[in-house]
Amino acid sequence: MKKPVIIGIAGGSASGKTSIAQELYDCFKGRHTIRIIKLDDYYKDQTHLSMDKRVLTNYDHPLAFDMDLLIEHLDLLKEGKSIQKPTYDFEQHNRSKIVEIVDCRDVFILEGLFVLNEVRIRERCDILVYVDTDADIRFIRRLRRDLEERGRSLDSVCTQYLTTVRPMHEQFVEPSKKYAHIIIPEGSSNTVAIDLLLTKISSIVD
Ligand code: ADP
Ligand code: C5P
Repeated sequence: MKKPVIIGIAGGSASGKTSIAQELYDCFKGRHTIRIIKLDDYYKDQTHLSMDKRVLTNYDHPLAFDMDLLIEHLDLLKEGKSIQKPTYDFEQHNRSKIVEIVDCRDVFILEGLFVLNEVRIRERCDILVYVDTDADIRFIRRLRRDLEERGRSLDSVCTQYLTTVRPMHEQFVEPSKKYAHIIIPEGSSNTVAIDLLLTKISSIVD
């Protein structure tokens, strides 16, 4: 059995990681070959905290994630085994009750803020991608998305951006760009870069 290939996609919040992963996934729709795994699903369980406490968590620090569980899962997937993956509820700031079974595929796309920052993840990825989108564009996209999809207010998005998102991006995410094999400017509108990745994935799965 061939070991699955793991493509890691990192980049700042709202840089376009999810959109790129989804575009790649859509090109193989209907085939049991590719699966997206979101680092966001590995945010630590916060059931023991009240909502007032949960909103105070720094969600842009690597320690907010259960990296040990993710590494354990990546190793199982590499061995062709299935995993029971947690899922995340942004409105509750907590893991949801839904657990997803992820079984063996040819290609896994792992996308999230710290995919390049965490050495153990880098070691397990075959291709490392960084989505490089300017901070002002990312802020506008994030504002829209968090108001429409994540149940946030204008005030909370702005405060969170200035207190944690921006400084943590500068401390952890941006410096991890140096580990990328491929840097994609402007995210999913970069059709040339998407096509190059598609060619590579096709050569693995066909
Ligand atoms: P990330 O996964 O890096 O946080 P997403 O792919 O979820 O980023 O994109 C964040 C928001 O920006 C989403 O609402 C998405 O629809 C929007 N978006 C992503 N890429 C583009 C683009 N190229 N042009 C315009 N909007 C985009
Ligand atoms: O999809 P994206 O990469 O933007 O997701 C990560 C972002 O989600 C982080 O920048 C973090 O601030 C945000 N987040 C949040 N509330 C949570 C968990 C994460 O705003 N409960």
